[in-house]
Amino acid sequence: MMIAVTGTPGVGKTTVAKLLASKLGYKYGSVRDIALRIGAAEKAGDELEIDVEALRSVRLEDTVVDGHLSHHMPADVVVVLRANPKVIAERLEERGYSSEKLGENVEAELVDVVLMEALENSERVIEVDTTGKTPEDVVEEILELLRSGTRRRVGVVDWSEVFDDVVRYLRK
Ligand SMILES: Nc1ncnc2c1ncn2[C@@H]1O[C@H](COP(=O)(O)OP(=O)(O)O)[C@@H](O)[C@H]1O
Ligand SMILES: [Mg+2]
Repeated sequence: MMIAVTGTPGVGKTTVAKLLASKLGYKYGSVRDIALRIGAAEKAGDELEIDVEALRSVRLEDTVVDGHLSHHMPADVVVVLRANPKVIAERLEERGYSSEKLGENVEAELVDVVLMEALENSERVIEVDTTGKTPEDVVEEILELLRSGTRRRVGVVDWSEVFDDVVRYLRK
């Protein structure tokens, strides 16, 4: 099976994807490394521009793929991690993100951008709220959803009440 772990930057993808892979005895791969390997990544200043169309045909068996573009790959299941946008803001602030990048990502989490993209790309989408949970808790929740054969589980978060807490991060 191929599992994609996606979500807004800072949500916990890398932490959860590595732990999930080790629990399942699967390989771990990042979209970044996969894209570089297949020649679907181009340096654009400090950033890497990834050709998402080239990702659409890359199948990797028994692999957990980590990245905010992983839902563009033909995974059997797409796990969309969510976190309170305030938590995202704090994590990205700590990572030294520019205020523009920070605002962009807080807004993306607030309005479900990655979830919507995942639903456009995949039949089997499982959303998991990480807020207030440990990575171990989150991985257990994912494993349980996989075990039970859950085809789709979305709509587990609603950040509308959080808006006032994060409005100061948003782009003017
Ligand atoms: N429930 C959780 N799931 C995932 N990460 C968590 C969780 N709680 C706290 N964290 C912490 O949040 C950070 C997430 O960073 P990372 O996994 O690199 O996110 P991403 O890959 O989505 O940018 C890590 O420092 C991790 O230890
Ligand atoms: Mg990461």
